[in-house]
Amino acid sequence: MTRTIFELPNDLLIGHMLIDDDHAKLVRLINETGLALQDKQYHDSTRLIMDFIDGMKHHFNTEETILQETNFPWLEEHIASHRQVILKLPRLIDECEEVMDGGQAWNELIDKLIDCLMEDAFKADMVFKTFLTEQRT
Ligand SMILES: [Fe+2]
Ligand SMILES: [Fe+2]
Repeated sequence: MTRTIFELPNDLLIGHMLIDDDHAKLVRLINETGLALQDKQYHDSTRLIMDFIDGMKHHFNTEETILQETNFPWLEEHIASHRQVILKLPRLIDECEEVMDGGQAWNELIDKLIDCLMEDAFKADMVFKTFLTEQRT
């Protein structure tokens, strides 16, 4: 059985397949990183954090295209919120090194990965979810 550290609550599903798939993929990466850190597989955890950073950036690009295509009215604000998250991402690599050196607990680093994802999925994307729901009715 795979151990799960973090699950995305169902009410955070946006209702757009590509976006929800991306978020689910990022959740999987967070869990894999957590397991690698817990097992002190530091080579793997560094690689997974890099995948997470790339995955977040890729997700933001995909999402911004979708927002544009659906004529989402708060596109600029949403892009700005993505930029805020992007600024925090490189720090995760340094913090991974701190975990390796024993300066930080592995679960604190995982909380930071979760914060980065939630800042997008919870804070920003919920506005898009409301917009999508209204478009459909
Ligand atoms: Fe977003
Ligand atoms: Fe998102």
